[in-house]
Amino acid sequence: MVDQGIGIPPDAAAQLFRAYFRHDEAKRMTGEGMGIGLYISKQFVEAHGGRIWVDSAVGQRSVFHVALPLADAAVPVPER
Ligand SMILES: Nc1ncnc2c1ncn2[C@@H]1O[C@H](COP(=O)(O)OP(=O)(O)OP(=O)(O)O)[C@@H](O)[C@H]1O
Ligand SMILES: [Mg+2]
Repeated sequence: MVDQGIGIPPDAAAQLFRAYFRHDEAKRMTGEGMGIGLYISKQFVEAHGGRIWVDSAVGQRSVFHVALPLADAAVPVPER
């Protein structure tokens, strides 16, 4: 997912996925938000064996990546 937003400084990129982390710049823009959206996203993705990360250019854009493993071919098809 790509946006043309405020961007994320490199030192903050690793912290975004922690519970309750909100960057000062985000707090300045809005008092809303608990800082759990990306934390929950990371829990979901990792529970499925995947990875989530962000690439960003400050003041330009942020790109959020999610990579998930393909389903195991041995997963049984449910009976009708
Ligand atoms: N697209 C984005 N561009 C710039 N910064 C972002 C972006 N998405 C998230 N962030 C930064 O990461 C922090 C954590 O994001 P997260 O979605 O977990 O929390 P939130 O949106 O602040 O609150 P909540 O999701 O709980 O409503 C944000 O507060 C902000 O600092
Ligand atoms: Mg959020």
